[in-house]
Amino acid sequence: MNETLALAVIPSGAAALTASVLKLKKRLELSKAKHPSLRGHSRWARRVAGQVPFYEYDDAQYFRSDDAPAEVAEQRRAGFMRLGELFERRFAKTRTLTAEVEGSISDQQFTSAYRVPFQYRRLVKQHLGAGAFVESSSGVTVTDLDGNQDYDLAGSYGVNVFGHDFYKDCMDAAAQRVRALGPVLGSYHPVVAYNVKRLRELSGLDEVSFHMSGTEAVMQAVRLARYHTRRSHLIRFCGAYHGWWGDVQPGIGNPTPAHETYTLKDMDRDALRVLRRRKDIACVLVNPLQALHPNGAAPGDSTLLDSSRTAHVDRQAYTAWLRELREVCTARGIVLIFDEVFVGFRLAPGGAQEYFGVRADMVTYGKTLGGGFPVGVVCGRKDLMKRYRDDRPSDICFARGTFNAHPTVMAAMYEFLHRIEAPEIQRLYQGLDQTWNDRAERLNARLRGEGLPVQVANLSTIWTVNYTQPSRYNWMLQFYLRAQGLRLSWVGTGRFIFSLDYSDADFQAVAERFLAAAQAMKADGFWWSSPALTNKAIKRRILREMLRHRF
Ligand SMILES: Cc1ncc(COP(=O)(O)O)c(C=O)c1O
Repeated sequence: MNETLALAVIPSGAAALTASVLKLKKRLELSKAKHPSLRGHSRWARRVAGQVPFYEYDDAQYFRSDDAPAEVAEQRRAGFMRLGELFERRFAKTRTLTAEVEGSISDQQFTSAYRVPFQYRRLVKQHLGAGAFVESSSGVTVTDLDGNQDYDLAGSYGVNVFGHDFYKDCMDAAAQRVRALGPVLGSYHPVVAYNVKRLRELSGLDEVSFHMSGTEAVMQAVRLARYHTRRSHLIRFCGAYHGWWGDVQPGIGNPTPAHETYTLKDMDRDALRVLRRRKDIACVLVNPLQALHPNGAAPGDSTLLDSSRTAHVDRQAYTAWLRELREVCTARGIVLIFDEVFVGFRLAPGGAQEYFGVRADMVTYGKTLGGGFPVGVVCGRKDLMKRYRDDRPSDICFARGTFNAHPTVMAAMYEFLHRIEAPEIQRLYQGLDQTWNDRAERLNARLRGEGLPVQVANLSTIWTVNYTQPSRYNWMLQFYLRAQGLRLSWVGTGRFIFSLDYSDADFQAVAERFLAAAQAMKADGFWWSSPALTNKAIKRRILREMLRHRF
């Protein structure tokens, strides 16, 4: 190599080295900002999930998977079978119709299988099915085909904020209001004008777009953020649910990898550092429900293997976190999206933006806003909502949907937005947190007083059950609760969703039933404990079982 060539090569070699070091540094920063659990590592989570073998406990192990003495196992078996007989009698018609169609409804097969850890699935399916059909609702209750009227703690996935009767009225009035127009799509019924006006006021944002589900609203918000920033990546926080679209569900559940999603630690400085440094981030998605369990996934009882599930709200800390996020996003031109599909209208009239006092660039709504019908909505800043460029007419951001702004849905939304202005509805928001925090505290004090290893944690009306003593059988509580006339969704004790119209008397009845359920479960020996039974020991044992079955 001659001297001139060498002189030319050395600087470019140094530049390449610097570039590589910087790239490596960025990569390391990204790794540091990921949650250390599998939830923070989508690819690994999928790989590991793919290796978990199915196995189940035989009769001898089923009630002794924690090495409880034989007499405790017998006590448990007797309690389980008693519940089974009760369910058979009480839910006879509902179970029969469910059995007839279950094999043809994929969703039902999935939800009925994933109610308890898979090792216990068979006997639960055989004996503790309560059926999937309901016939009517009234007040805070739902009635099945056998006439059982249960307290509704399932909350229709969060749709039911103001009570069933409120939505029935919205739906009826909506049908009446658009009767003359019928199913005409593509043009708007005049109610849309009012909806847009109210949504702008409530969100504090400039423009609105209508979609058919929360998932679609999130897709559209992210697509627009990518279009306007000309950047590729979205950031979601570990554990947060944003619907089932692939890019926001990069881990277990989605068969293909999401290449343009970063899943970062919630409430964490390393995550902020990544936001400050990287140039490829289009938007940050926040589901404010995560304030209840930052970095935790939606807590379902099918993953309730031990008692390590925790939840607790620190409103101040979460508010501070959102403020920091807001600052970084503003400084870096990153679009901050609040996904309020779940918590919108539930925490406060102005949703999470009002509740935490932090404003987003875009907000997605859904669920309850449809007044009982399916819906998704994006509200956003004018510059972010625009779907074309004035100077590049062919460079558009496309989003259409046949049923967007459907007249009946728009009219139900109109009724919803109209009716929530009524003083009796506005009154429900007054002291809302205090009411529900007090209720949770009172229940927890009674549970503690009675020596029951269960506590509840809540974000306002959204509750979850924590277990305070290591156990392999916590998933049984959902069936004891059902026996007491408390109706949960398929995720069991992971999520109770109360409507705001639960009166003190309604709540008192639920609390009594909750206590009775926990007492019965304790009396049947499911919370037997021993010093050797720790959460760690339980996890180790399950890992050993899996390895044995896999290899
Ligand atoms: C925060 C959040 N975003 C999006 C969605 C998806 O909404 P949908 O089920 O209407 O598609 C949900 C649904 O639970 C949600 O809770």
